[in-house]
Amino acid sequence: MPVKYELLDDVGVVTISSPPVNALSHAVRAGIQSAIRQAQADDSKAVVILCAGRTFVAGADIKEFGKPPMDPWLPELLNEVEASSKPVVAAIHGTALGGGLELALASHYRIALPSAKVGLPEVKLGLLPGAGGTQRLPRLAGAIAALDLMTSGVPMAAEAAQTQGLIDAIVEGDLTDAALSFAKKLIADGAGPRCSSELPAPEADPSIFAEYRRTLAKRARGQIAPQKIIDCVEASTSLPFPDGLQKEREHFMELMAGAQSAGMRHVFFAEREARKVPDIAKDTPTRDIKKVGVIGAGTMGSGIAMNFANAGLDVSLLEVNDDALGRGLETIAKNYAGGVKRGKMTQEQAVATRNRIVGTTNYEKLADADLVVEAVFENLSLKQDIFERLDEICKPGAILATNTSYQDVNKIAAVTRRPEDVIGLHFFSPAHIMKLLEIVRADSTADDVLATCLSLAKKIRKVAVVAGVCYGFIGNRMLQHYGREAQLCLIEGSTPDAIDTALQQWGMAMGPMRVFDLAGLDVGYKARQGLSVEERGDPKAYRIADALVEMGRLGQKSGAGFYTYDAESRDYKVDDESIAVIEREAEVLGVVRREIDAGEIVDRLIFALINEGMKIVEEGIAQRPSDIDVVYIYGYGFPAYRGGPMHYADTVGLVEVYKRICGFRDSLDEDNWSPAPLLKKLVDEKTTLAEWAAAR
Ligand code: 3HC
Ligand code: NAI
Repeated sequence: MPVKYELLDDVGVVTISSPPVNALSHAVRAGIQSAIRQAQADDSKAVVILCAGRTFVAGADIKEFGKPPMDPWLPELLNEVEASSKPVVAAIHGTALGGGLELALASHYRIALPSAKVGLPEVKLGLLPGAGGTQRLPRLAGAIAALDLMTSGVPMAAEAAQTQGLIDAIVEGDLTDAALSFAKKLIADGAGPRCSSELPAPEADPSIFAEYRRTLAKRARGQIAPQKIIDCVEASTSLPFPDGLQKEREHFMELMAGAQSAGMRHVFFAEREARKVPDIAKDTPTRDIKKVGVIGAGTMGSGIAMNFANAGLDVSLLEVNDDALGRGLETIAKNYAGGVKRGKMTQEQAVATRNRIVGTTNYEKLADADLVVEAVFENLSLKQDIFERLDEICKPGAILATNTSYQDVNKIAAVTRRPEDVIGLHFFSPAHIMKLLEIVRADSTADDVLATCLSLAKKIRKVAVVAGVCYGFIGNRMLQHYGREAQLCLIEGSTPDAIDTALQQWGMAMGPMRVFDLAGLDVGYKARQGLSVEERGDPKAYRIADALVEMGRLGQKSGAGFYTYDAESRDYKVDDESIAVIEREAEVLGVVRREIDAGEIVDRLIFALINEGMKIVEEGIAQRPSDIDVVYIYGYGFPAYRGGPMHYADTVGLVEVYKRICGFRDSLDEDNWSPAPLLKKLVDEKTTLAEWAAAR
């Protein structure tokens, strides 16, 4: 029984116990209803709702979404809770999220432990609070606080929630005892039920709604849910409670049936699934990681070091010389100062965290590290030299990791006498901000090394995805195909701005041309210099970028690339000079430029990702299609509301995807567009990628 009811003295105690997070499944809803009904009929004078386990109710049961709803519906159940003739107290620990907070808002009183958090994260699932939250919250906390909590989806600490009027008391010690005392005091004081739905409608200057609509149209570009949340809060200021609730219900159902929420719900489960490695035993022991060494204090190394320091680990940051080390430490100091300025941490926290990172130029300092992450230049023999040295110096059992973007981790592992301890930890730039961590499992990587890195990823708050060894692993391997199509669209007739606008309007956080400029056009240029002309491939896919580099236009860092950049603000401007370069290179290569519409641009870039993703899944480089979605959402700015490239392929329909890819093969390039065998197979079998993945 997930819900227990007992009468303790004159308090009816409802205990929800449905691990792991007490989600409001059908059984839990039915249990709460039965308990509340029992309390109406017995001798209780007040009711307490609390949860067993690690948290108060963390929301509706997302697994039930998309299935036929079953009585009791949550909004109706919560109305019944609120209608209790005896005062109901919600006692919160852990996280009261979504439907969980709505249950608390429908209760008449709320108390919480100081460590508790409350929030309405539905927007992150492409939804809005659908059980009265959009109507009760503004009545309790005001329209602005309600808009902020619901449109950000970010939970707030108990203390802040108390300030906002959401929590009546913060209690210390045993929560059950505190809840019983609170209830008994209500009884002694003769305090009855207190319904938030009966509070007066919140007052709000009508102009704030227009302002929120404008801001969120930019901040949550393309997303429907935040705009619907604003509609509901606006309704709470003018409509009677039942009518507001009705409006909330209509919007909720519409969002639930839409593709955006389906995509975001897919991402929620994909992210959690990605941590699971089926061929590793669940009870695999992990190694203790307290001291970390980072080699290279450049763009990546300095950010990587910050991750570990932020999680409370000691870091030795190693460089070739004092100058390079000084530059790295300065970057780190600047980043922490920025964090203080933006209110992310206090000055004391910043100093304490920064002091965990100690610079060195002496490899001996890595002797007692539990983990070493190498982040030097992208050069295989340099990396191999370093791993040989680490093999000499590091203590037995230390994990030796490389942050390489492309190099063969097996070849790096092979120079050591302990290939089982070697792994790839591929962070994304800026490493202290980007959420993704590709964990590259080499042929000999030990299970406990992989298990340790997966648990460490959680500790440093990264979203981890396991990848196999191949050139570029999951993300960068796919990106090559996306980048190629961007370059080809450019030379065939488009412009940087048209390409970026098309992709950004479709939902990508940043268009590919700006990404190229940000990463630096010289990176690819230098890599190509080491290749023969044949190895470089089709010049149409790189000549424009190379010509720009040869003119000194290296991207944002030199003030110009595909665009020009303002030195101060880094704002970008379309530039005739780069258009002239594009036209000139097209002429030199004999390309007759043509009009390319936004639809073709988007399809070519996104379908190129999908086709390569299919190959990656089939080869076993990714464990499952949804892992690729996680990589693209957390590492490459793919819109979460489209669920990631592989989920998007299912949304479009694999038959259509296959048709388009074959069309590009016939009209553009046979080699670039050879359809992935898996795609063809699934089309023949009339199945979806999700069904295929579930059946494996
Ligand atoms: N429904 C179903 N399963 C859920 C769930 C939910 N609401 N929340 C978490 N889970 C599952 C996870 O899938 C995971 O399952 P797994 O172990 O099989 O992979 C397990 O619970 C543990 O979750 P986490 O790994 O995320 O555990 P953490 O301790 O890291 O985080 C948490 C706990 C903060 C509660 C986090 O799980 C979370 O944010 N959950 C989602 C909360 C949410 O979005 N609530 C709103 C739901 S929508 C709603 O309520 C609509 C209403 O307005 C009508
Ligand atoms: P970077 O050029 O900014 O930094 C490399 C640093 O390594 C330099 O400071 C250099 O002095 C130092 N170094 C060189 N040899 C060394 C040695 N023997 N011992 C100690 N330090 C040494 O390079 P960046 O961009 O940080 O890249 C590092 C690695 O991370 C590369 O393998 C790269 O492919 C990978 N990577 C880069 C990303 C990016 O966006 N820049 C993203 C993800 C991975």
